[in-house]
Amino acid sequence: MSRPLVLAIETSCDETAVAILRAPRDILASEVASQIDLHKRYGGVVPEVASRNHLPKIRPLIEAALHRSGSSLTDIDCFAATRGPGLLTSLLVGYSAAKGLAIGLGKPFIGINHLEGHLLSPFLPGIDRAFPSIGLIVSGGHTMLVRSTGIGAYRLLGRTLDDAAGEAFDKVAKLLGLPYPGGPEIDRLARQGNPKKFDLPRSMAKSGDFNFSFSGLKTAVRYLLPKLEGDFHADLCASFQEAVVDVLVQKTIRAAERSGVQLVTVSGGVSANSRLRSKMLEATTSARLDLKLASPSLSTDNAAMIAYAALERYQLGYRTDLREDADPNLQLV
Ligand code: KG4
Ligand code: ZN
Repeated sequence: MSRPLVLAIETSCDETAVAILRAPRDILASEVASQIDLHKRYGGVVPEVASRNHLPKIRPLIEAALHRSGSSLTDIDCFAATRGPGLLTSLLVGYSAAKGLAIGLGKPFIGINHLEGHLLSPFLPGIDRAFPSIGLIVSGGHTMLVRSTGIGAYRLLGRTLDDAAGEAFDKVAKLLGLPYPGGPEIDRLARQGNPKKFDLPRSMAKSGDFNFSFSGLKTAVRYLLPKLEGDFHADLCASFQEAVVDVLVQKTIRAAERSGVQLVTVSGGVSANSRLRSKMLEATTSARLDLKLASPSLSTDNAAMIAYAALERYQLGYRTDLREDADPNLQLV
């Protein structure tokens, strides 16, 4: 049997993305059209604006992906799309488009959980996947620790009880007057700052479980701000980032050690953070654990990770019932 080809669409938030993957995990095309500039002026994603802007981009992106991969629609063995979680009106655009193609061409369709896409993204491209693993997913909407023993076999170890890590980055950046999305801005400024300058809380670091909390940290920054003078931005960014990274790293290592799992994976938008990457590498090395980080270009939302999850599921025989719709609250576990 030839190596199956999957086309996947991702429209869960403000990125319109289309990717084509060939088994086992060759990315033939991964097109991403960002709406960041549109949402910048509002300081965050406006759902109505996001869904309206996915619509005109879908078709040109599909054509671009087909062109780049050197394939045509009839070559595709399976169509996939993000089913949730995300903004319903945005999800519906990509989900309906992929479903329509599958129906029109008489091919299978698979709806994918966006978080499974992030979770498996460290195995792209070309690296062999391995289980069991402890996966830290850190994005704008989610922060969770998951134990995986296979495709679709996930157990939740812990999650944020309030803000997601990326949300904390974005909110603190907003307090500092930095543009949306704040994560990359804080990462950049923090490089020139002293991470020990301000002593910020490491919430729940010693809670004994694998849950997180970041809203107290954001509030601590808010109360600190009016007391500061001069050029404190770089030091504050570095100290804030250090507080987030410390807790993420500590809990991930503890989760791996406690469950006796050798492999740690880190994915989601915040896994692009340079400090998180270097501290996680340091900590896993000294704990003699293996680490697979999502490559920076596959950390933030993209369709290659959705196509990869779909390819794994396709080969295991999973298919999504066409009567099932997108689900903004879809759970991973
Ligand atoms: O995975 P993603 O693209 O979308 C969601 O599924 O949420 O994650 C976006 C989040 C945003 O909060 C953004 O600020 C954050 O990832 N982010 C970063 C960095 N790059 C993106 N946070 C910290 N440092 C970065 N370098
Ligand atoms: Zn995401």
